[in-house]
Amino acid sequence: MRFKADEIASVIQQEIEQFDSRIDVREVGRVIEVGDGIARVYGLSGVMSGEMVEFSEGVHGLAFNLEENSVGVIILGDYLEINEGDEVRSMGQLLSVPVGDAVLGRVIDPLGNPLDGNGPIVSNERRVVEQIAEGVAQRQPVNEPLQTGIKAIDSMTPIGRGQRELIIGDRKTGKTAICIDTIINQKDTDVKCFYVAVGQKDSTVAGLIETLRREGAMDYTTVIVAGASDPAPLQYVAPYAGCSMAEYFMFKGEHAMIVYDDLSKQAAAYRQLALLMRRPPGREAYPGDIFYCHSRLLERAAKLSDERGGGSLTALPIVETLEGEVSAYIPTNVISITDGQIYLQPDLFFAGQRPAMNVGISVSRVGGKAQVPAMKKIAGGLRLDLAAFRELEAFAQLGTDLDAATQKRLDRGYRMTELLKQGLYKPMHVTDQVLSIYAGTRGHLDKIAVEEVAAWEEAMLRFFHDQKRPLWQKITDTRQFDDETAAEVDAALAEFTPPGGAGGGPRQPGERTVELSERQSTEHRALKPRERSAEGPVSSTWRIISGPKAARLAVQCREAQEGAEFAAAVLEPTAGVPRRITVRGNVQCHACKTELPIDWEITTSGSLDRTMIDCGCGARIRLVAADCKDPRGRFVIASPGKTPEGRKAGSIGLRIEYVEEPAKENEDS
Ligand SMILES: Nc1ncnc2c1ncn2[C@@H]1O[C@H](COP(=O)(O)OP(=O)(O)O)[C@@H](O)[C@H]1O
Ligand SMILES: [Mg+2]
Repeated sequence: MRFKADEIASVIQQEIEQFDSRIDVREVGRVIEVGDGIARVYGLSGVMSGEMVEFSEGVHGLAFNLEENSVGVIILGDYLEINEGDEVRSMGQLLSVPVGDAVLGRVIDPLGNPLDGNGPIVSNERRVVEQIAEGVAQRQPVNEPLQTGIKAIDSMTPIGRGQRELIIGDRKTGKTAICIDTIINQKDTDVKCFYVAVGQKDSTVAGLIETLRREGAMDYTTVIVAGASDPAPLQYVAPYAGCSMAEYFMFKGEHAMIVYDDLSKQAAAYRQLALLMRRPPGREAYPGDIFYCHSRLLERAAKLSDERGGGSLTALPIVETLEGEVSAYIPTNVISITDGQIYLQPDLFFAGQRPAMNVGISVSRVGGKAQVPAMKKIAGGLRLDLAAFRELEAFAQLGTDLDAATQKRLDRGYRMTELLKQGLYKPMHVTDQVLSIYAGTRGHLDKIAVEEVAAWEEAMLRFFHDQKRPLWQKITDTRQFDDETAAEVDAALAEFTPPGGAGGGPRQPGERTVELSERQSTEHRALKPRERSAEGPVSSTWRIISGPKAARLAVQCREAQEGAEFAAAVLEPTAGVPRRITVRGNVQCHACKTELPIDWEITTSGSLDRTMIDCGCGARIRLVAADCKDPRGRFVIASPGKTPEGRKAGSIGLRIEYVEEPAKENEDS
């Protein structure tokens, strides 16, 4: 065989050229030390920051710290499987997650692995987890509403599509509840929802997923879970992963919304990682770039310009405060990044004002521009009025004599705050919200007892749906509330007769009998001493058989720690006018369950009146009548049910008859 020398030379040269590109010594490294969710790796000299690496056990990690002689890797999985000396390969790509329709309706971990047992996520598209947010030129101002379905929010701190609105408050103040309601309310819209659970108990998240499923919201929702028991790296990455999945829809020209529940736990996870990586601690031991950690996440929420498809991503980050401390490090950071905040206050929450939004310091800096015109028109001054009412209320508690105008503002305020209460998972249509708030701010509720506001509202809305459908539809379609519509609504409200004879409906003159006849079991709830005066919920099972405008009936069921207490309350708009009433009815003995008759005459101006009823079994039942100088004029008859055996009081049935009529000048007009 003969060789040509130059041919050989060229082959050798080719081989030498290829030699360098085939063998890349930078790709593989070895674990020097491992623990607490991080590993130090020697040898990955060419790895990029944020690049994925793979351990020999198949566990993935993320290059986090690029140091002179080693690489700090955060381990996205079980670090207990990894040992010193194990091989680590860099994967040449940044961390990414599957995106697209395949993730909708699924429960997944931050790496896109299914947690719901419904098989793998089959998607041919992936998105890198860390993305640079769109620049201003690619955006347009927020101009469409994202209806939360919550009266207090849609009217006073409206959220627009593409906005970032912070939900902030202590633990157990209804932060998650607001976001879940918002997700449920997107049912018939084109908004895809993403809920990122960071550092929460798995049982909490499971309950929440169950709720979403029950309400039919899982069809368009993805839940990304990095629970409290998951390693800190996963908790840190979860919000970015969720954001990438949500962003996908925004870039497709669609609408998405994402809840980060919550960023304080993500910050704690990040602090843990940074400290383990020996990054220098700063304020509250958080690393210096904790602000950047949240800002680069929240900046990704946007309303894209029409040239870019006009899609939007709305972000609802949640931050948990400790003892209402909004000026701590993480809360101030996130407040300054977002476009407004909804501040939930524990004392409002415990007083039954739910959602417990503090209207004074809650704002939405951009959403007002995106509000439905009808809502914008009728709810304009509501926030300031309510904030003023709260201050006035605090002042009025000092017990000073109030002039008529102040009293009127107080009365209006009590009814408006009552109207803004809203139960869990009951999002409301925006037209219903408009009608309710209009009725309240226009004084249609002024003559309704505070306790009856909720029932009145429900009946009023049913009336509009059943009998005034064209008007309801007109407001829904036009989204406007012009003077003509206002006149039509006023006329309809005048026509509306509230149920049970309550409110402004027609009444027989001179009727003075109010009867409580049904049985009501006491609500078993331990109350803190300071809450003992709190008003219980008005039970809807009690009926006013007939009654004058002056007498309305409400029932309190409450149980003090040392025993049960059951009370019937008569509301007297003409508070302070002495009158005598006869209370007839029965009370059940706690001990032997016998019903005992009551026939008791009381003067309501007396501050306290008591009577004892002796039962044949030897038990004594005490009845207390108290005229508790309440501005709303509440007169309470209670049976503080202390039983020697610690048994709960049963029930009391009362029939209240007026012996004397109230003075005429106190009739409200
Ligand atoms: N509007 C509401 N009406 C009645 N209960 C509510 C309301 N909002 C929240 N809750 C209840 O309060 C509790 C705490 O709410 P949650 O949203 O979990 O608080 P957080 O997320 O702030 O810790 C839950 O048990 C929830 O059912
Ligand atoms: Mg929560």
